[in-house]
Amino acid sequence: MKDTLRLDRYLSQATGMPRSHALTHVRGGHVTVNGELVRDTARHVLPDTDVVLLNGAPVRPFRHLVLAQHKPPGVVTSTEVGAAQTVMELIPEALRHRDLAPVGRLDRDTSGLLILTTDGALNHRLTHPKRHVDKVYIADLARELAPNAEERLARGIVLDDGPTLPAKLERLGPLRIQLTLHEGRFHQVKRMMVALGSAVLQLHRAQVGGLALPADLALGATRELTAAEVALLTA
Ligand code: URA
Repeated sequence: MKDTLRLDRYLSQATGMPRSHALTHVRGGHVTVNGELVRDTARHVLPDTDVVLLNGAPVRPFRHLVLAQHKPPGVVTSTEVGAAQTVMELIPEALRHRDLAPVGRLDRDTSGLLILTTDGALNHRLTHPKRHVDKVYIADLARELAPNAEERLARGIVLDDGPTLPAKLERLGPLRIQLTLHEGRFHQVKRMMVALGSAVLQLHRAQVGGLALPADLALGATRELTAAEVALLTA
């Protein structure tokens, strides 16, 4: 059987209005389903096929949101309001009422691609180490790494919270590296580099899964990903 949703819940999820407002609209006779006036709030609808109108205007079916943000340094990856600006505050106003959560976290001083989504299953798939979703970082280092760094990172190095999964190191210059990880532990790139003898001066995330930071996404900008871009995340 296809998944159905109670009409009031459907209206609330699709529009962002509180359930109490949705109930008022249904009881007030403002809602039709497939052309039929419905006042029964317990009526179930098929989100993908039923045509629901509110005051004559179509209510689009609920769908999950997947956003990409070009996180600037200085902004914290947190859903809590605090003294510092958060990544949530950079989300376009019209989307802020949705139940968005960051996928993993970037440190305050890290820039680059941050995904935010309402889809808990996608969030889990992108963050779980067993799923092996690549996260690609570019780091500027204080010191050049020893010649055996590639090999040590490919084997996995031991941090104070356990060994890392194999990581791929590419040297982009004497003090600039690209590091591909499959996991996202606290300060992981910085701690791995310290274990190899260098501090990280600047850190940028260039890619998540098969999705590179979109070229049109200016520093600080957030936009919804296309279906093709979302597919790349887990490709
Ligand atoms: N590793 C870090 O050390 N910091 C980040 O922000 C992301 C990965």
